[in-house]
Amino acid sequence: MSINEIYTDGVAVSGEHQASHSYSERARRNLWLQMSRMGAYSDAQEIPIIVRGEGTHVYDVNGKKYFDGISGLFTNALGHGRPEFAAAAAESMNNMTFFPIWTYAHPKAIELAEKVASLAPGDLNRVFFTTGGAEANESAWKLARQYHKIRGDTDRYKVISRDIAYHGTTLGALTITSLESYRQPFEPLVPGAVKVPAVNHYRAETHPDDFEAYGLWSAQQIEEALLREGPETVAAVFLEPVQNAGGCFTPPPGYWQQVRAICDRYGVILVSDEVICAFGRLGTWFGGQKYDYVPDIITCAKGITAGYAPLGAMIVSDRLAEPFHEGDVSFQHGFTWAGHPLSATIALTSIGIIERENILDNVTANQEYFQRSLNDLKELPIVGDVRGTGYFWGVELVKDQSTKETWAGDDAERLLRGFVSPEMFRRGLICRSDDRGDPVVQLAPPLISTREDIDFMVGTLRDVFVEAAKRYL
Ligand SMILES: Cc1ncc(COP(=O)(O)O)c(C=O)c1O
Repeated sequence: MSINEIYTDGVAVSGEHQASHSYSERARRNLWLQMSRMGAYSDAQEIPIIVRGEGTHVYDVNGKKYFDGISGLFTNALGHGRPEFAAAAAESMNNMTFFPIWTYAHPKAIELAEKVASLAPGDLNRVFFTTGGAEANESAWKLARQYHKIRGDTDRYKVISRDIAYHGTTLGALTITSLESYRQPFEPLVPGAVKVPAVNHYRAETHPDDFEAYGLWSAQQIEEALLREGPETVAAVFLEPVQNAGGCFTPPPGYWQQVRAICDRYGVILVSDEVICAFGRLGTWFGGQKYDYVPDIITCAKGITAGYAPLGAMIVSDRLAEPFHEGDVSFQHGFTWAGHPLSATIALTSIGIIERENILDNVTANQEYFQRSLNDLKELPIVGDVRGTGYFWGVELVKDQSTKETWAGDDAERLLRGFVSPEMFRRGLICRSDDRGDPVVQLAPPLISTREDIDFMVGTLRDVFVEAAKRYL
C-alpha cells in the first residue's frame, strides 16, 4: 500500500474515487482553514496535507519531506515525535482526565506554575493559565483594567501597542493588534486602542544611521502617546521583545529600559507579549533576560509546550497580584481548559528537555552563524534587510537595494504568493512569506536545529531569491 493510498480516506481506493476522496477535497468541503482564502483552493490547487513529523521534518500525504522552518507556527521547539511526550501524556491521562483550576488546583498546574515562576525575570511569580496567546493577552488587558480599578484609578482602560503588531484575534486581543486588514471587518472594536510606530530601523526616517538614538525616539513615541491621551486613561502598553509581524523587529539598545521608565513614571502596566519569543526562541527563557528588563506581565503560549499540547499563560508580578490576594477580591475571568493537566504535564516535560539538553545553548551557539549566513544573501539584489536574533529571523525583499523600494499590492501578491512561497514549498522548505508589513520571508526553526539545517534553509532561500530576482526585477 502506498502512502497515498494509506492517507486517502483511511482505506485504499483507486481511480476516480481516489480523486474524489482526496483529503484536499474533503477539507474544502468541511474543514474551514484558519486565516485562509478558501476560494484559492480548487482541484488544480490542492490544500497541502501534512500527515506526520519526525525530528525537524514533516511529510505530506504524498510522502514528500519538508524542513519545518517555522516550527509549525512558532510552536514545535523540540521537533516532532519525541517519545518522552507520548509517555508523559499517557501517564497524565491514565492518572486523571481533567479537573479545572477554578476553585480547585491539581499538582501539575502547581508544579508548572512554580517552574515558570522560577524561570521568569524579577518578581513575576503568579501564573494565570489560558489555552493560547490571544487569551493570554485578553487576560492581561483585563487584569490591568481591574488592577487599576481596585486601586481607585477608575479611568484607566486604554491600551498602547505598536503598528503592524499582531497580538491575537479575539475582540480584545484584536483591538491590541494593529493590522488594519484583520481589524477592519470586525469594527467597531473595543474602545481605547492607541497606536505608536513599529520599531523598524531599516525604514526609519528619524535617526536612520543611529540605532540607539532611534530606540530612544521610538520609546519617546510611547510617552508622547501617553501624554496625548492623558496618562490617567491608559491601562497598559503591550510590546513583543522582538516584533514578529513586519519581520522580526529587534529592540535598539536602551529601548526596553526607556519604556520601563516611562511606564513607571505614569503608572502604566508594561506587558511583554512573548507568545513567540519565550521558552528559547531568542536563546533565553524570556525576553527580559535577553534585553535586561522586567515587565509587569509576560504573556506566553506556543513554545511553552513545544507544540505537543495547547496552553498559554499570563505571568504576573507580585505587585500586580497583591490586591487580588486580599479580602473578597477576585479576578473575574477564566477559561475551562486553562491549565489542563495534560498540557501542564507536557509543558513540564518540554522545559525538562530544554534544561537537560541545554537547548538554549544550542540557539545561542548558532545564532551568529545563522545571522552571518543570512547576511550573505544581501549580495542578491532582491534582499534588502536581514533582522532578528536567536532562531527568529526575517529577510525583507526589495525591488531596489539602494532606494529600498518595496513590493506592494498586486506586486507583492505576485512575488510572495505567486512565486516565493510555493517555490520554497516545492523545494522542501516550510517557511513564512509575509506581506502584512513590507514583504519578508521568515525562518523560526525548531530550537534543536543544527548548522546543517541552517545551511539547508539559507541555501533554499538563496536559490529561490536568485530565481525571483531573474523573474521579477
Ligand atoms: C505575538 C503574538 N501574540 C499573540 C498571538 C496569538 O496567539 P494564539 O494564536 O495562540 O491565540 C500570536 C500568534 O501568533 C502572536 O504571535
